[in-house]
Order: sequence, then structure tokens, then C-alpha cells
Amino acid sequence: MRSFYHQPVMAEECLKGLAIRPDGVFVDATFGGGGHSRLILEALGDNGRLFGFDQDDDARANALDDPRFTFVPHNFRHIGRFLRLYEVTRVDGILADLGVSSHQIDAPERGFSFRFDSRLDMRMNQNLERDAADWLNEESPETLLNIFSTFGEVRNARTLARSLAEWRQQGPFDRVGDLLAVVEPLARGKRERYLAQVFQALRIAVNDEMGALAELLNQSLDLLRPGGRLVVLAYHSVEDRMVKNFLKTGNVEGTVRQDFYGNIFRPFDLVHKKALSPSEAETRDNPRARSAKLRVGARRPEAPNA
Ligand SMILES: C[S@@+](CC[C@H](N)C(=O)[O-])C[C@H]1O[C@@H](n2cnc3c(N)ncnc32)[C@H](O)[C@@H]1O
Repeated sequence: MRSFYHQPVMAEECLKGLAIRPDGVFVDATFGGGGHSRLILEALGDNGRLFGFDQDDDARANALDDPRFTFVPHNFRHIGRFLRLYEVTRVDGILADLGVSSHQIDAPERGFSFRFDSRLDMRMNQNLERDAADWLNEESPETLLNIFSTFGEVRNARTLARSLAEWRQQGPFDRVGDLLAVVEPLARGKRERYLAQVFQALRIAVNDEMGALAELLNQSLDLLRPGGRLVVLAYHSVEDRMVKNFLKTGNVEGTVRQDFYGNIFRPFDLVHKKALSPSEAETRDNPRARSAKLRVGARRPEAPNA
């Protein structure tokens, strides 16, 4: 493991949210540097089990040497399939700490950051076919507009999409610097904030982060035992909205569903009425925790599939 990989965010709150039973089965859907996983293992007894998913090859080096732990080097969108391989059909808790790790952002060659010039890559899973440069070279201006306005809430997304499409007529996007050449002159407001929004939007699209999150949430309905916990840390509003909708209604769109008798389908009890945020002390110590929103649901026993 590298000397510093990632500092776990809201660790105590996440652990409390999971309500660890010593002999329970838990999933850390976003293993990363294993910070949260280490704490889960400390709380588990000898018969407990923990599965850690991560789609990034780099995370594998952090896998914990503990008979109760299994590292699953795959996208969490396949959570049900891989748990079945281990003959697990029900779990007591699922933790998802979404987005990228500090290691990914700070590794220049991964292309996630506007601070380093490298291949404009941004793939969390190094085996994905298309990286960020490919997206910029291949997608229509309409798709680019949609990405920047939906996932980045970029104000002048239309101008940005048009400028990107014009730029690539002279030659393909390849390096982070190519994207910066187009984006810098269009920056509105604080430069760093604008660049962060553009880079975030592209990263979400390249990794299909919203699609993967929707699949994870949907499968959690069947995977969680009655009383089982779903604990999600989101770092931007589009993600957080999806989690909030899901916890309230059992579907990612947030559509309220009723049965024949008018009973509303509410698959989760909300452990906190509102999302929790990190303390001031934590954000001072770890500025990357700043935008975190933590939501916790407890699977209701009386709901269908329970
Ligand atoms: C914010 S970091 C998690 C850090 C971790 N909680 C820790 O304490 O070290 C997110 C991690 O989840 C992984 N990840 C993000 N989306 C994923 C997905 N759909 N499937 C599997 N892993 C994913 C990333 O590769 C990254 O390593």
C-alpha cells in the first residue's frame, strides 16, 4: 500500500450507521484504501464477514489480510452476482462511499486532476474501453452539453460543448492540457470551482457513476435483511438526490408507489431525517470531506421482498 491512499470520511458516523452485529455480513462497496473496512473488521466478531468491492486495480494492493475479509475486484453494480458466487444472498449492511479516492485524484497519470498534465484518462476501472479523451472526441455536442449541465451544473455548458466540438476539428483531445486550453478561457466565477465542475461532470460520464449507483441501490432492496442498513456518502447533489429519492420511495426516480389499498411503499426507515454532514473539525483536518452528505436507511421488515 502507498503511504497515503485515502482518509476515510465520517468514519464514526458510517460505523454507527451500519449498526454492526458481530456475526453479521457486511459489504464495503467502495473499498479504496480500506479505511472504512478496517473499522468494520474491528467491530466484527470472529464469525463476521466483510466483502470489499473496488473496480480500480490500484485498490487491490490495500486488500486486508484477514480471514473474515474478501476483496472483490469489480464494479459494485454487479454486487448481487458476486455475492451469490460466495453463496451470500442476504447481508446486514452495505456501505458506499461514492466517487474517487485521494489516491486517484493525486496520481498524475490517472488524469482525474486539472493540476497535472497527462493522458486525459479518468477511468476508475483501467479496463474500460473508453477514457475521457475518447468521450470528448466521440460524443455529440448535445451529449456533451447534457453531461456538463446535468453532472457539473456548469452554467455556460452550451458554450463549453460548442467550443469542445470546434476544438476537436483541429485534432483529437489527448492530454489534460488540451481540455484546459478550451475550458480556461470560458471559466466563470472562481477558476478552480469551474474547472472542478467540468472535470467532475466528465468523470461521472466516463465511469457511468449514476448508472452504477442506481443498480447498486436497486439490488440493495433484495440483499438487505429486515433491519439491515444502507449507508451512503455522496459528494455532489445529483448523487445525493438519487440516494434520497431511493431511501424515501424504493426507486431512484423518487416516484411514490401505493398498493391497491393505498398503502405507500416505504422500504426504509430513515435513521436521520436529514443528511448528516462532517463536523467543522473534520473538514478542517480533511478538506476533501467538505461536500460529504451521509444518508442511512434501515430496511423495513414489513416491506415486500423483506
Ligand atoms: C471515496 S473512495 C472510498 C475510500 C474508502 N472508503 C476508504 O476509506 O479508503 C471511492 C472508491 O470506490 C471505488 N469506486 C467508485 N465507484 C465504484 C463502482 N461503481 N464500483 C466499484 N468501485 C467503485 C473507487 O475506485 C475508489 O477507490
